[in-house]
Amino acid sequence: KSIVFLINKSEITAGTRGSSLGPDAIMTAARKKGSFIFGENAVEKLRSVNDLLDKPTPYRFAKRIDGLNKVYDILNDKVSAILNTNSFPIILAADHGSAGGTIAGIKSAFPDKRLGVVWIDAHADIHTPFTTPSGNMHGMPLATALNIDNTECKVNEVDEETLAFWNKLKQTGSPEAKVRPEDLVYIAVRDTEEQEDAVMNRLGIKNYEVADVRNRGVAAVMAEIDQQLKACDLIYVSFDVDSMDPELTSHGTGTPVENGLTPEEAKAILLHLAKNEKTVCMEIVEVNPCLDEKVNVMAEVTLDIIEEITQQLKS
Ligand code: ARG
Ligand code: MN
Ligand code: MN
Ligand code: MN
Repeated sequence: KSIVFLINKSEITAGTRGSSLGPDAIMTAARKKGSFIFGENAVEKLRSVNDLLDKPTPYRFAKRIDGLNKVYDILNDKVSAILNTNSFPIILAADHGSAGGTIAGIKSAFPDKRLGVVWIDAHADIHTPFTTPSGNMHGMPLATALNIDNTECKVNEVDEETLAFWNKLKQTGSPEAKVRPEDLVYIAVRDTEEQEDAVMNRLGIKNYEVADVRNRGVAAVMAEIDQQLKACDLIYVSFDVDSMDPELTSHGTGTPVENGLTPEEAKAILLHLAKNEKTVCMEIVEVNPCLDEKVNVMAEVTLDIIEEITQQLKS
């Protein structure tokens, strides 16, 4: 496969600042190590909308949703264009909010294919403006892909303008749901709000806990996931680095949660998915070097994983 690294530095959907430096931190880790992975493969950089961070946002339950609409449109165009040239996008993004735009782009390129999603994360990222505790839109990308509002669990009064932006996000790439709940699988989710638990139960979305991965082994868990996604034509993999244990990754991410995957477990999971011919796109998000307790440890750990999946995809 020919790889395109797509760099998306818009960090408008997290509550902490600095993940826009994540992709550069990963590239710096490569240069430090003497790895030429970013010279040997195509690298494309997207326009960022981070100027929005320099003024207040009026949308309290969907912060900077105006900017996120632009990011979704940019990704929808770019990801579909890369897939249409038969290349494999590996997206290095700042925070996780843009992943719904990536999914839109995959759906735009392959409107008639059934898309499975493997979401490796400490968080479920399935909030909506009606349920969010923070207004941070990196907690919402999956609700846009599933085209759900979860008003069953409504806690926030959402204004008309926010709602119009929200509906537009959900419709980017396709007016209908881009992913069915049974085609979404979580790994390592361990920090959710009750509104998220309710929607996961209602839709029957499966989560493989860190303990499942550790006790049963990566191979057994991944075989079960392959089986669940058997009816899917394509797979998208979203890797939030906070799925990994903060103690082993120097807390270099915005919303660390204890008791995560080891980097070795994460790598084995991602290598398995990289081997699967159905996998068309992988995304790595939420590396934040400003929060790293040491110097760039999270980026170095993440680079090591990226190098191996890239090698696997090219073999
Ligand atoms: N559930 C929390 C919220 O919505 C945290 C979300 C964290 N998401 C992430 N991609 N790191 O605010
Ligand atoms: Mn996430
Ligand atoms: Mn997360
Ligand atoms: Mn610690």
